[in-house]
Parts: sequence; structure tokens; C-alpha cells
Amino acid sequence: MLVSRSFVFSPINKLTVFSQSQPQHTRLLLQSHRIHTMAAEAATTNTSNTTAKAAGMDFLTKKVYTPPPWASHINPIPSHTFSLGHLPTPIHKWNLPNLPPNTEVWLKRDDLSGMQLSGNKVRKLEFLMADAVEKGADCIVTIGGIQSNHCRATAVAAKYLNLDCYLILRTSKVLVDQDPGLTGNLLVERLVGAHIDLISKEEYAKIGSGVLTNLLKEKLQKEGRRPYVIPVGGSNSLGTWGYIEAIREIEEQLQSGTDKVKFDDIVVACGSGGSVAGLSLASWLSSLKAKVNAFSVCDDPDYFYDYVQGLLDGLEAGVDSRNIVDIQNAKGLGYAINTSEEINFVKEIAATTGIVLDPVYSGKAAYGMMKDMAENPKKWEGRRVLFIHTGGLLGLYDKVEQMAPLLGNWRRMDVNESVPRIDGLGKMF
Ligand SMILES: Cc1ncc(COP(=O)(O)O)c(C=O)c1O
Repeated sequence: MLVSRSFVFSPINKLTVFSQSQPQHTRLLLQSHRIHTMAAEAATTNTSNTTAKAAGMDFLTKKVYTPPPWASHINPIPSHTFSLGHLPTPIHKWNLPNLPPNTEVWLKRDDLSGMQLSGNKVRKLEFLMADAVEKGADCIVTIGGIQSNHCRATAVAAKYLNLDCYLILRTSKVLVDQDPGLTGNLLVERLVGAHIDLISKEEYAKIGSGVLTNLLKEKLQKEGRRPYVIPVGGSNSLGTWGYIEAIREIEEQLQSGTDKVKFDDIVVACGSGGSVAGLSLASWLSSLKAKVNAFSVCDDPDYFYDYVQGLLDGLEAGVDSRNIVDIQNAKGLGYAINTSEEINFVKEIAATTGIVLDPVYSGKAAYGMMKDMAENPKKWEGRRVLFIHTGGLLGLYDKVEQMAPLLGNWRRMDVNESVPRIDGLGKMF
């Protein structure tokens, strides 16, 4: 069961124990945390309840999981989920400029699945966190890049469920012994009290994420803890259910919408493979039958075909990844490294359509999609495309220096000093 703790850790490996001498506001905070925990515990007894969902009362509740009928043969089927995302996320048309003739692009706004716990990772975490709680874990261990959205989302989800969170974050050799700072995702992780262990890119490449998380898991076990390990990006076969469910959601949205819309293609960024595995399997099994086009932002397509295959095999899906998804390389200069063209593209798309893409995932995927549309217009002509915006906006804060020269849209307001003030209004007005 969920365990309530009366201590917190400072962000980087230093234990602080709250005592009665702690300021009252801190104790109150802890008390409210325990009350919140009790609410979460009570909620775990709930089963799926559409009325509660409609009333907005099912957030953070644990529900018995029933798969869509077309996925009922997949094995294993998760027993429970935790309601962590604000779902369903909206679908709307995206008025992108310079599309091939009669091509439409629509957006699935998974960037709106939440605020601090947002983006595509929420869908995977709904299954992974339910499993962690089911297995009696008292803390979560996961790993990723220094600006990992997955790590940030996991840190928040863990705290919602009163679990501690241990993050291993990969950074450069030069920065590995320094305070990682508070930029973007790090601010949220450190605010929610995640424990951060830094590792250099070289060490990470040499040792591998599996061994690193295992080392931390064993260390925690020796301390009497019950850790639950989530792999990079939440991409294991259980996490894959997140995007199997997303396809059920899209199917239901299309069935209940007033316009009879049918999508020919789905486009999505691929970073660790879980979203692509879920989307492509479920699109193929369901009535959607949209072709899934993935744009890889770190490794090469061959690596991802194999990785996705492993996830599909783990679900006994009996399909070949190469038959259900097309993966193209959109890595560019490398993971989380942007060309000035990509940064400019993100800026132009925001300025023309109001949609803010993240530079590391959806920005690269949309850039890759538009490039492919320009180079191969016949392939896309007349097709209706659903682009999955997977979130990650906090990653933009890591790019402000690269972005700053493009954003010159400000000026000192020109006012005549003799303009009189209208009296009678408060100073704020
Ligand atoms: C914002 C965002 N979009 C897309 C992805 C890629 O999804 P996946 O890891 O399932 O391939 C990630 C994580 O890797 C992400 O953080």
C-alpha cells in the first residue's frame, strides 16, 4: 500500500528530516500531503466509472482495466490503470502553410494532457504507475537525458501517488560534477523533490541504462526500500498500452464527432519507441487503419524497427514492425541538438499557427514531415494526416539562447509624458 513519509530529500542526494522544530507551514504542507495520500489510497478501490470521469472526479483514481475488443488477444493485458492524464486530448485541424494539394494536417493535442504531468509520457505512466503500486513499490527509479520529459513526468506522477522518485540524468562530462541547475524540466523535478543522480554521456554509453537503473535499484533495496524501475522513456511492453489506449480514444472521438473524419496517416516523433509501438499496433488492429509514419529523433530507423519489434513481441502481437510502421530519420545533428533551420521552423510554426512545438521531438518530427512533403508531394497529396503533438514544451527553455536572435519582436512603448493619469483607479489599473 502507499506509504506516507515524514521526511523529504533535498534534490541531490542529501537527506533532510522534518521534525517538530520545522516551521509550521512546512508541517502543514506535510499534513496536507498525508491527507492527499489518504485520498489516493481511498481512490484505489474505485473501478472504471464514466460518471466520475464526466464529473472530473476520476483524476488520480485507480481503475480496473479492460482492453478494447480488438486488443483483447494481446498478452499480457494490464490489470489496472491510474488516471493521470487529462483525457481525451483535443483533435483539431492544423492550418500549416505549404502543404501538397488537398493534403490536410490535423493535430492530436497530447501536449494538453496535463501541465506539470503532460505530454505522451502520461499515457504510459497510467499503466506503469498502476503496476508499481500494485507491486507494493515505495519508490520509482528511472533514467533519461538531462532534459528528459519522461523523467519529469515520472517525478510528478510518483509524488501524486506518494512514492519517492530517483532519477538518473545523463549530461556532458564537463557538467556531471556540477549542480544541474533549474532550467525547464529540472525545475519541476527538483520542486517535487526527485533525487537526482548525474551520469556522464560516456559512462551512460559504456554501462547502459539497464545496468545503471539496476545498480540504483540494488542500492535502494539494501537500504530497505522497494524500488520499481521504469526504463528509458517508459518504453516497455506495459507502457506500450498507453498508445494502444490512445487509438481507442481517437476511434471514439471520430465516432462521436459531428464531421465524419477519417485519417489516412498518423505522424509522430520516435524517441524511445513506445508511442510508435502502441500507435502502429493499435491503428492496424482497430478500425482506424491509418498508416503510422514515425520520425526518429535519436537513433536510426533500423534500431527502432528492432526495438519496436521487441515491444510487440513482448505483447505476443504476432506482427512485423516493418509492416505496420514507416520510420524515417529526423535526427539531424543529433539527439536534442538543433540546426538553426529547425529552431527557425519551430518559431515560424508558432508564429503562423499558434502551435508551440518542442525542439527535441515534435519539432523535429514536424520538420521531417514537412521536408518529406516538399520532396515527395505525390506521397502525401490528398491525404488526411493526424500529427500527434507529444508535448515536451519545457524543453524549449533549454534552447532560449539559440532562439533569442530570432525573437526580436519587442519595443519600448512610445508614450507622451504629458498624457494625464485618470484618477480613481487602483494603481494596478
Ligand atoms: C515530448 C516527447 N515527445 C516524443 C517522445 C518520444 O516518444 P517515445 O519515447 O515513446 O518514442 C518523447 C520521449 O522520448 C518525448 O518526451
